[in-house]
Order: sequence, then C-alpha cells, then structure tokens
Amino acid sequence: MRVDSAAAILAATVSCGFSWLLVLVLCSSLLTADFFTVEMAGKNQTVSLNDNATIFCKVLGSQHLNIDIMGNSWFRKHQVNETEDKVFESIGKYQEAFRAGANVSLLRLKMGDASLQLPRVQLEDAGEYRCEVVITPEKAQGTVIVIVVANPVGSLTQKKVMAKDNEDKYILCKLSGFHPKDINITWCQWTQEDPHCLEFSEGITTDPAIKNEDGTFNITSHLRMNHSVEHNVTYQCMIRHISLSTLMTLNITLPGKEPEMETSLRTSSLWTTILYISVSCLILAIIVVSSYLSCLLWKRCRRQKQSFDTTIY
Ligand SMILES: *[C@@H]1O[C@H](CO)[C@@H](O)[C@H](O)[C@H]1NC(C)=O
Ligand SMILES: *[C@@H]1O[C@H](CO)[C@@H](O)[C@H](O)[C@H]1NC(C)=O
Ligand SMILES: *[C@@H]1O[C@H](CO)[C@@H](O)[C@H](O)[C@H]1NC(C)=O
Ligand SMILES: *[C@@H]1O[C@H](CO)[C@@H](O)[C@H](O)[C@H]1NC(C)=O
Repeated sequence: MRVDSAAAILAATVSCGFSWLLVLVLCSSLLTADFFTVEMAGKNQTVSLNDNATIFCKVLGSQHLNIDIMGNSWFRKHQVNETEDKVFESIGKYQEAFRAGANVSLLRLKMGDASLQLPRVQLEDAGEYRCEVVITPEKAQGTVIVIVVANPVGSLTQKKVMAKDNEDKYILCKLSGFHPKDINITWCQWTQEDPHCLEFSEGITTDPAIKNEDGTFNITSHLRMNHSVEHNVTYQCMIRHISLSTLMTLNITLPGKEPEMETSLRTSSLWTTILYISVSCLILAIIVVSSYLSCLLWKRCRRQKQSFDTTIY
C-alpha cells in the first residue's frame, strides 16, 4: 500500500516535469520561428520635396522569408482629417499601388526589407505611415510620421527708408520656397577687428510667413542698421530650419565711414586746386608774354615810321 502510493507520487512528479519541458520547448520554438517585429526609421522621417524617397520598414527576428506566405501593406493617415488610405499592398507575388509609383521591391522584401519607395514626393504625401507585415499566421506593424521638407533659398539686400530727419537703413534677409512653415531667423555682426559674431537682440523685425501657390513659404526679416559705423561691418543672417542639417548663413559686408576715405577725398581736392592754380598761372603768363610781344612789335613799327618820315622831310 505504502510502496504503491510512493510509486504513484514519483510517476506524477516525472510526468509533470515532462509536461513543463514540453511547454518550454514549444514556447522557445514559437519565439525563434514565428515571432517577429518591424522597425521604422524612428518616430519621424523627413523626406525632401520632389525627391525619390524611401520610407524605412525592416522586418526583425525572421531571417528566412517565404514570399508566398507573406503580405505587406502600407497605409497613410492624414495629419489633418485623420483618415487612413492604403498606399501600397502586396500579397504573395501580387502587388498593387494606390499612390502613383509607390512600390516595395519583392527582392528586398525576401530579405526582410519592406521599405516603401515613393517617387517625386509632394507635400500631400506627408502624414503618418503604417507598415504592416504578415507572415502567416503572425502579423506585425510599425508607424512613422513622414515630414516633407523643402529648404529655403535666400538673399540679402539693402533698403533705405526716409524717416523724419534722416534715412533709416535696413538689411533684408529674404527666404523663399521652404516647408514646413516653422523657421528661426537670427542676426549677428562682426568686424575685422572683432571677428566674433555678435548677436543682435533688437532692431529685428520678421514678417509673418506667406504661403506660395505650391504650398511652400516665403519670409523676410529686417535688420535696422546704425547710422555711424566707423569700420567695414559684416552682417550675417542665420537660418535654422528642419530641412537644414546645419546652420544656414548669408553675409553682406558694408563699408563704414572710414577716416582714410575722408583724407583721400581731401588730398584729391587739394590736387584739383593745384591744377586750377597752375592752369590759371599758365593762362596769365601767356597773356602777359603775348601783350609784351605785341607792344614790342608796335614800338618797332612806330620807330621805323618815324625814321622814314625824317628821311622824307
Ligand atoms: C514595382 O517595381 C517592379 C520592378 O521595378 C515592377 O516590376 C513592378 O511592376 C512595380 N510594382 C508596382 C505596383 O508598380
Ligand atoms: C516667394 O519668393 C519667390 C522668390 O523670391 C517669388 O518668386 C514669389 O513670388 C514669392 N511668393 C510670394 C507669395 O510672394
Ligand atoms: C546700434 O547701436 C546700439 C547702441 O550702440 C546697439 O545696441 C544696437 O545693437 C546697434 N544696432 C545695429 C543694427 O548696429
Ligand atoms: C526656433 O526656436 C524656438 C525657440 O528657441 C524653438 O522652440 C524651435 O524649435 C526652433 N525652430 C527651429 C525650426 O529651429
């Protein structure tokens, strides 16, 4: 009786252990064979307007992919009205694009790359993209916000505005064709004596950005200049925008009222005076000499006439 129960307990323990082992083996096989995830470029991905873009989506955790049991769909959710549209779909070897030119390479998909190709990206292509991958019977997905950017084109110009007593001088930093609207413009100046660019905290007026027909923006920032600048000054407009990986700068160097310029002006006027005096002296000399000569001639004439008269009488 005692021996029997002991054997039963032993048998129960062994079978329990076996079943746990079975669960473990099953679980690990599930983890290695079927479980996978997809990875996007990050939370956001920026793409350039009119460029051919690739929206990244990588399948992780599954090396050997069989296209015949795979499906891949791309959706785009608009930022404004929150509706979701299908952009691209592939089921096995069948593919369909719902946005002109959208494509996922089957060759790359086989290697776990479900990245979406979008030729000639437009502003309307912006939104939240969802990459969905099905490897029967599992499914995984990832999302990324695609921002369509266009970098600003800029120029610096001078402007004079007549105020009450004197004219006000401005430098304009004109930027055009950028997207999105958010942009930061700051100004600084340097001279040859102080090459460190000193940032301005006042005298800056930046207009509100205006929208172009193509959806890009223009903006102008005005810097008011001081009237009495002694040296050459370089004014710099600095632009920060999501489309720019580094700071964009535009420079203009304006000549100051330099003392050397005034002295050179004075010396040049001195030379003009000397020239005037010389020319006047020359003219006077010519007059004096010519009148002396004519006088001499006239005297000789008279003397000859006198001697002729005396010989007659
Ligand atoms: C995707 O590109 C491949 C290779 O260029 C092409 O054969 C296929 O038709 C394209 N698919 C779509 C849906 O345009
Ligand atoms: C924006 O700037 C460009 C280039 O200077 C110009 O051609 C265009 O007319 C400007 N747009 C608006 C709305 O003023
Ligand atoms: C003009 O001069 C004032 C006072 O010296 C200075 O605070 C300001 O930044 C100057 N502005 C420009 C545009 O040089
Ligand atoms: C502009 O500056 C503000 C405040 O300093 C900052 O929050 C914003 O991100 C900047 N924008 C860009 C495009 O650099």
